[in-house]
Amino acid sequence: MPFLRRARVGSGQRVLVFGASGAIGTSAVQLARHFGAEVTGVCSGANLELVQSLGATSVVDYTREDFAKRGVRYDVVFDAVGKRKSAQALLNSPTALAPGGVVVSVDDGLARPVPSDLALLKELAESGELRPVIDRTYPLEQMVEAHRYVDQGHKRGNVVITVGQGDAYAQPSSA
Ligand SMILES: NC(=O)c1ccc[n+]([C@@H]2O[C@H](COP(=O)([O-])OP(=O)(O)OC[C@H]3O[C@@H](n4cnc5c(N)ncnc54)[C@H](OP(=O)(O)O)[C@@H]3O)[C@@H](O)[C@H]2O)c1
Repeated sequence: MPFLRRARVGSGQRVLVFGASGAIGTSAVQLARHFGAEVTGVCSGANLELVQSLGATSVVDYTREDFAKRGVRYDVVFDAVGKRKSAQALLNSPTALAPGGVVVSVDDGLARPVPSDLALLKELAESGELRPVIDRTYPLEQMVEAHRYVDQGHKRGNVVITVGQGDAYAQPSSA
């Protein structure tokens, strides 16, 4: 949420989410849609359907196509991958920006949610408009295995650690 707020995502804008199938990306797609944007999601082929089901109006498989060469201009390019893995792929992203457009990355500094962000997230989760995407669930004792899986960098949405009967700690998304 803080990243989308920083980019002033709003109604009628074209927003591209790079890494649309991860924890941050799946939330960003849904939130940008909520704010009235037309969303393009970039992910690998296996996740195209998932990203469409979250509200993306178009999807790009980054293993086959460079979004910056499609001739479409975006008001916001949101990099939800970061940690330099996205650097090469985003090299050409300025050419895909509409006049006044911005590139915002999860690498741009700590996300600082404000109380109104949390209130909106609660409202959207309760209404079902914001759907958490859960890939795998591990019990607390298998935290090491959970980290090994997450460290591969290709989870679909979130990985949940269960900490007690009926209780779960889900890795929070901060798009
Ligand atoms: N999750 C959080 O709560 C959180 C909080 C703060 C910061 N962050 C940071 O935000 C970033 C994203 O984290 P995340 O948990 O959402 O997901 P993640 O597990 O880091 O992966 C995000 C997505 O990146 C895609 N991806 C992986 N390698 C790629 C590459 N070389 N080129 C293009 N796409 C690639 C994957 O899609 P495919 O599988 O389709 O390839 C995956 O869905 C990380 O840098 C993380 O440190 C996360």
